[in-house]
Amino acid sequence: MTLQLGDTAPDFEAETTEGVLRFHDWLGSSWSVLFSHPKDFTPVCTTELGEVARLKPEFDRRNVKVVGLSVDPVSDHHAWSGDIAETQGHALNFPLIADASRKIADLYGMIHPNASDTMTVRSVFVIGPDKKLKLTLTYPASTGRNFPEILRAIDSLQLTARYSVATPVNWEEGEDVIIVPSVSDAEAKQKFPGGWKTLKPYLRIVPQPGHDGAD
Ligand code: BEZ
Repeated sequence: MTLQLGDTAPDFEAETTEGVLRFHDWLGSSWSVLFSHPKDFTPVCTTELGEVARLKPEFDRRNVKVVGLSVDPVSDHHAWSGDIAETQGHALNFPLIADASRKIADLYGMIHPNASDTMTVRSVFVIGPDKKLKLTLTYPASTGRNFPEILRAIDSLQLTARYSVATPVNWEEGEDVIIVPSVSDAEAKQKFPGGWKTLKPYLRIVPQPGHDGAD
């Protein structure tokens, strides 16, 4: 069955480049990004893993734990990690799951047989502190992902969780946001004492809470 937004991220135990990982225990109360890459020793994957290593402080700042996965053995992950450091200038600084049995790939639907029987697609699962799936993405093997966009989406998810706001098209950090429709005007007065702009009753714009002191 396909995993859907709002589902609990399935728990598992896995061998990784940093030892055995018990997923739910490891998550604790953090946010998380679990992402798959098709295969070790491949060019696009090499660039992606270097980029995630470069961005690790940005994930840390948002209280997000990152973990990669492919269906290669851990010995390959270790051997390949030297190439990532050498060519991308950033050494792996987060765990890579070795899912040679495909147990986790199957649990999360990361193998799409009509794309490839043997490799995982480029899946992304953003998981909240409640262990529920907040966002999923699926890219084909030939298209490297845009990890700054994943950070941007996490910023949006975290704003929604904290302040009951949604983010409009192409939103970037610091720009105005939208009061979610489930918040009444009476509730909005409490939450956004600085006021908001009503373009339509369902389209209420407010400065981003928590940005530069705004609340
Ligand atoms: C890559 O990471 O470059 C890649 C992996 C599998 C198929 C195509 C490209």
